Amino acid sequence: MRNFLFQQVLTGSLLSSTIFVTPAVGKAIRRTTSCHSNHYPGPVNPSFETGLTGWTVISGDAFGNASVSSASSYWGGPFNQVGSNFLWGYAESGDPAVGQLHSSTFQASNVMSFLVGGGWDPVNLYVGLVRASDGELLLSQTGSQDEALIRIVWDTSSYAGQNVYMTVYDNSTATSWGHINLDDVRTGCDALGDGGLTFNVLGQVNQPDQSTSTLSPSQLYAADSVRPQFHYTPYQGWINDPAGLIEWNGRHQLFSQFNPVAPYWGPMHWSHADSPDAVHWHNLPVALYPPYPENPADSSGRYTGSAVLDKDTGALQLIFTDATDTALHPNAVPEVVSSAKSTDGINFPLYSGNPIIAGPPAGSPSGFRDPKVFWDPVGNSWKMVVGSGDATSGKVQLFTTSDPDLLQWSYVGVLTEGDGSTGTMWECPNFFPLDDKWVLFYGGDSVGWYEVGSYNGTQFTSEKVGLLDAGPDSYATQWYIDSAGRNLAITWMGNWPTSKWPSRINGWAGVQSVTRQLFIREDGGLGSKPIDEVSSLATGAATELGATNVHGTITVGSSNTARLQMSVDLASTNAPAFTVLLYSSSAEQVALTYTVANRTLTLDTTDAGYGQAGTWGAVIAAPTDNVMTMDLLIDRSSVEVFVGDGTAMTATVFPRYQESKDIKIVSNGGKTVFESVSLTPLGSTWI
Ligand SMILES: *[C@@H]1O[C@H](CO)[C@@H](O)[C@H](O)[C@H]1NC(C)=O
Ligand SMILES: *[C@@H]1O[C@H](CO)[C@@H](O)[C@H](O)[C@H]1NC(C)=O
Ligand SMILES: *[C@@H]1O[C@H](CO)[C@@H](O)[C@H](O)[C@H]1NC(C)=O
Ligand SMILES: *[C@@H]1O[C@H](CO)[C@@H](O)[C@H](O)[C@H]1NC(C)=O
Repeated sequence: MRNFLFQQVLTGSLLSSTIFVTPAVGKAIRRTTSCHSNHYPGPVNPSFETGLTGWTVISGDAFGNASVSSASSYWGGPFNQVGSNFLWGYAESGDPAVGQLHSSTFQASNVMSFLVGGGWDPVNLYVGLVRASDGELLLSQTGSQDEALIRIVWDTSSYAGQNVYMTVYDNSTATSWGHINLDDVRTGCDALGDGGLTFNVLGQVNQPDQSTSTLSPSQLYAADSVRPQFHYTPYQGWINDPAGLIEWNGRHQLFSQFNPVAPYWGPMHWSHADSPDAVHWHNLPVALYPPYPENPADSSGRYTGSAVLDKDTGALQLIFTDATDTALHPNAVPEVVSSAKSTDGINFPLYSGNPIIAGPPAGSPSGFRDPKVFWDPVGNSWKMVVGSGDATSGKVQLFTTSDPDLLQWSYVGVLTEGDGSTGTMWECPNFFPLDDKWVLFYGGDSVGWYEVGSYNGTQFTSEKVGLLDAGPDSYATQWYIDSAGRNLAITWMGNWPTSKWPSRINGWAGVQSVTRQLFIREDGGLGSKPIDEVSSLATGAATELGATNVHGTITVGSSNTARLQMSVDLASTNAPAFTVLLYSSSAEQVALTYTVANRTLTLDTTDAGYGQAGTWGAVIAAPTDNVMTMDLLIDRSSVEVFVGDGTAMTATVFPRYQESKDIKIVSNGGKTVFESVSLTPLGSTWI
């Protein structure tokens, strides 16, 4: 099914932006991958506009006339079909039904594309291309665990001229996501774009096989047109919370909650990478495995936690949540604290005396997880915070130890608890001194909250509460202090409420932010900014616009892996608002608008492609010198916005088109005065 030669062709040609639509460029590319030759009509009724005409039910009851739907939206948003109809695999008989549907036979062209949606299960749920003469499945693509349709592009030049048909294959009896959706099969040049724009080349077959590839890590990770390049992502599978952040033996350690077998949450492993500068990452083997990996239905896993240096031996010690699936192990305590220790930074044998904390203190019915160990200069001892909660409020549990091995802990009490307004189960607590304050942060109700206040050795008193990040895609932020004494943090650029993980179509989901430096804001809140070393990602000179008065619209440049830094002279600006457009083309865009009167910065992704659509806002503190600075990190399918006052806004976005990378500034109804505008190309994080 995976034809490796074919993948090389794609990597070398299909991914470069304009080869198929620009004949002059196309001539320089191998003829076999041009859409202009070997162009044959596709299947009959390719977009289901005439029901099932031309399509044949081969087996089962998953597909029938009722599969053809004209519904335009579902609980998570629009289906995004082309024309009125599409094939909705759920509509005829629901999720558990199985069956097979074939298209009419047609001759393969050099290229084809189609829209796919539905469950992610490469074995049991897919749209496939089958050779008619021998029934061989040539190519296949599963769904993205989302109803919404995503465009897959296939190089079919190896089969050009051969008789083929499409199969819609559903052998999944799953009661959730046990169906597959299809629409708008195209062949030839139409398969590659729309209205003068070129589709991003998505699909599992376009991802080189990591285990056999001879590509360097940076080449391998570059092959995917929606994969961030200077952010940590799993090559395949799912990640969520960053864990175990520490600088150890001169290298920054990044672990992540990891499911290697599917691009969604499952039995949690810890993936591992390290870095000389907290910006360039080197992949290392999986550090922790779930306790029952032989049974994929067993969701027991090693949840997030901390890393500490064992000063006596120099070892790297991990302290984390050991979670047990109580549906399969009814007598187990669901969440305990365990430890593992590594002397080589690669292998992490578990402590034989685990667990080191055998269960939650009384009053923690909502959960007990995510231990974070820190040095407490008030009590002159190591301490640990653990997230918990009860029916009415989130809580942070505090433990202490005098054991130099950090294996014996005693309970201190509740460090602090909420009033319910920030959730009833606080996850991923972090607690540390910063300047003359103490900072607590945690996740509650799928929102990352910070509190700044004071601490007396047993209890925290909050003085200010705010959001760690005002965008939709930030959760489970983890703090650490580096050897230079900087307070750093990485956040998972994802969050639970969204149903949108379009990169699942390429087999992976989840991104870690760039390393951020934390500071106390002028207003007493917690601020963040990219660490200085991010500038070492530059691959060339910046485009500098210098002092610029913008009336109407200016184009700053065109890039989807770049840093845009701006200083706005608000005193000289008379426009009521200005907008920065990112990932912009005639079809889509991300809009970041600053409204001067109410100092509101709004991030708008309602027209930005396959990702989640919405608007998110933050009120920016008035700068004392009336100059607002903005630092934007743009990386193929993500944007991180940092404003000079310390506000951060993070979103993932998934453009449909390769051309969607223009960067523009629009002054809305007047003059916006920039002291400087600088656009720097950034390169790969992978070493
Ligand atoms: C769909 O409806 C047509 C017209 O009523 C009928 O001939 C055909 O058998 C139906 N197809 C399936 C798969 O039920
Ligand atoms: C469909 O799934 C069933 C149950 O897992 C399996 O026994 C069967 O072989 C599968 N069918 C095909 C055609 O692979
Ligand atoms: C810390 O503060 C709490 C809440 O104000 C108080 O109840 C407790 O006695 C204080 N503990 C110490 C050691 O001062
Ligand atoms: C700020 O003003 C803009 C423009 O009038 C408005 O759309 C937006 O809702 C306002 N935001 C807040 C938080 O008041």
